[in-house]
Amino acid sequence: MHVLNSDTSLSKAAHYRQLKTQLAALFAGERNGLANAANMTALLYQALPDLNWAGFYFLEGGELVLGPFQGKVACVRIAVGRGVCGTAAERKDTVIVPDVHAFPGHIACDDASRSEIVVPLLKDGRLLGVLDLDSPQLARFDQEDADGLNEAVGLLLQCSELGRLVG
Ligand code: SME
Repeated sequence: MHVLNSDTSLSKAAHYRQLKTQLAALFAGERNGLANAANMTALLYQALPDLNWAGFYFLEGGELVLGPFQGKVACVRIAVGRGVCGTAAERKDTVIVPDVHAFPGHIACDDASRSEIVVPLLKDGRLLGVLDLDSPQLARFDQEDADGLNEAVGLLLQCSELGRLVG
């Protein structure tokens, strides 16, 4: 599949519409949750500008455990309530952090990270995990990213069996 790269002439909303079309094509005819989540991180990492990490953590035994990702090696286990990921998991809500150095308890996996967004994976209100994106730019993520990424996560949940990744 040809991934359209960070075309700066597109508005952010148009960028996310394009991303959704590409994700739908990627998931068509495939319900394996691990495969779809892995391909989704590759697509996000290639298609969205200014990222240095994109990946999933899945809930296992009451904590978040590292799933498929793109970027530098990351911490494997994060307790619910800890860091940006654990905070989004606890609140079951998207968390945007414009400056990770100003977020108490931020867990630094890559020194280059300056801002972060974490979107929870919720199936019928039940937490399955989180999608985490990091950027080397301050204030890289805004409400348009939150909306676009929530739609992307919704598509993953709708098109994939994630049950085996969650315990
Ligand atoms: N920064 C995250 C940890 C995961 S890494 O960014 C990949 C956090 O504070 O939860």
